[in-house]
Amino acid sequence: MGSSRSTRHLAAVAIVLCSLQDLVTAGGRSPVIIIPGLAGSVLEEKVNQANPRPWYWFCQGKHDWQVLWFSLQAASRPPCLLDEMQIRFDGATGRYHNQTGVEIRPYDWGGLTGVAALDPDAPAYSGTYLELINGLKDEGYQERKDLFGAPFDFRLNAEGLQQVGFFKNLTELVEGAVAGNPGTKATLIAHSMGALATTFWLARKGDQWIDAHIAAFISVSAPWQGSPTALKGSISGDNFDISVIPHDLLRPLQSTAPSGPWLFPAADLWGDKVLVETRGGDKYRAADAVKMLHDLNLTQQAELYGRSHAATYPLPKLRVPMYCLHGSNVSTDYAFQYDVDHFSAAPPPAPANRTTGDGDGTVDIRSLMACKEFGPQVKIFDFPNASHLGILQQKDAVKGIIDLIQTGNTRRHLYRRFWQSLQQIKNSLLQPWQQVLASRRAGSKLS
Ligand SMILES: *[C@@H]1O[C@H](CO)[C@@H](O)[C@H](O)[C@H]1NC(C)=O
Ligand SMILES: *[C@@H]1O[C@H](CO)[C@@H](O)[C@H](O)[C@H]1NC(C)=O
Ligand SMILES: *[C@@H]1O[C@H](CO)[C@@H](O)[C@H](O)[C@H]1NC(C)=O
Ligand SMILES: *[C@@H]1O[C@H](CO)[C@@H](O)[C@H](O)[C@H]1NC(C)=O
Ligand SMILES: *[C@@H]1O[C@H](CO)[C@@H](O)[C@H](O)[C@H]1NC(C)=O
Ligand SMILES: *[C@@H]1O[C@H](CO)[C@@H](O)[C@H](O)[C@H]1NC(C)=O
Repeated sequence: MGSSRSTRHLAAVAIVLCSLQDLVTAGGRSPVIIIPGLAGSVLEEKVNQANPRPWYWFCQGKHDWQVLWFSLQAASRPPCLLDEMQIRFDGATGRYHNQTGVEIRPYDWGGLTGVAALDPDAPAYSGTYLELINGLKDEGYQERKDLFGAPFDFRLNAEGLQQVGFFKNLTELVEGAVAGNPGTKATLIAHSMGALATTFWLARKGDQWIDAHIAAFISVSAPWQGSPTALKGSISGDNFDISVIPHDLLRPLQSTAPSGPWLFPAADLWGDKVLVETRGGDKYRAADAVKMLHDLNLTQQAELYGRSHAATYPLPKLRVPMYCLHGSNVSTDYAFQYDVDHFSAAPPPAPANRTTGDGDGTVDIRSLMACKEFGPQVKIFDFPNASHLGILQQKDAVKGIIDLIQTGNTRRHLYRRFWQSLQQIKNSLLQPWQQVLASRRAGSKLS
């Protein structure tokens, strides 16, 4: 009697130990997936246009895959670039399309060339994630083994990204990375709009999948509640304050891209604050975005605003460990005054006056801080004086990200050691009993 109770006892201990093994991830380095932000992915393009455009001779109406964003060659013919990069949304079918005769896709899916630098031919002057990638390589990370890039078509909003298969790809990339590095879960690092895309995707994967595949989600400079600077892009164009670029050069893209209104400020956070004014007395709050877009005759974006925001807000609760890094104390626009009586289809000049506040130069501090909405597990790290993109070059921030990943890796290593010693204890406890049981079974068979 006594001995069979002890046997049950031991069996229970063994079961507990075995389920402990499932609980602790016994693997090595957590594979890292890098998801860039707006304009941060390398895109390539193939063109085969039947109907020549006015600048056809200039635009190469036919060419095989070549880098479109960013390449100096493509940028040297802006009318072609701006025409070819426009997305057309079909409200009747709810489908997003490339320009006729144009195909655009992310470059080097899964590898690092599509995310390391804007221009793969000139990484030295256009490096975005280069510092972080080099830092991770110094820690032993290897491209496509445990370090991956997830470039995406940043013209699109979440719904469009879903249609072109980005989230399906991302799921496969994570599952492949976890399978290729047994016993680990993936760490996601997403910059700016990439963090909104990641959130949209994670919220639809569900807790069970997240628990099995994601170790942590690290966001950098994420506009959790949108950004008033996105309004300026649609209204008059945004040259990112680079004075040699005309303010409205990129407007044809910025005023049609589905990602534009996706990044508009969220009505809940910005409430009654007037964000855009005209000399004639028109006042627009975040909630007036659709009216403003109609006043500007930007019908496509007016149609896309509601769809984009409905898919994003309110922000979901995520159970995943989250670390949000952002810059601050950089002067950031949050309201614009235009020197026109009223908006019309003709693009207005650059804003005459701006109201500025605290932020990272692109995103207002309140939107950056809204990361706390995701739940009590969130940890926010503020890097004073780091700008929206500059934070990726700031040594403290890059080191901070690598430390977060390495701390997770070390913890897993300790768990592994702990688990191994538990195994030894389990074996030393079980072995004598297994012998006893074996001899009993042998005995009972005999009798
Ligand atoms: C654009 O072209 C690429 C390559 O053919 C295609 O995979 C993608 O779905 C297209 N994007 C849209 C929005 O239609
Ligand atoms: C998805 O991944 C495939 C390679 O597996 C790649 O060719 C394709 O461009 C990717 N598409 C998107 C939208 O990421
Ligand atoms: C930066 O911090 C200083 C000192 O706290 C403050 O006076 C200044 O207004 C801040 N600037 C911005 C843009 O937030
Ligand atoms: C911009 O600011 C100046 C100086 O305060 C003011 O005179 C002007 O009316 C403002 N312009 C607009 C369009 O608000
Ligand atoms: C407004 O946009 C529509 C379609 O987007 C276009 O047909 C119309 O000509 C535009 N109106 C003006 C005044 O530009
Ligand atoms: C941020 O920049 C301001 C002005 O350049 C400087 O006074 C301040 O010390 C800086 N703060 C940090 C934490 O670097």
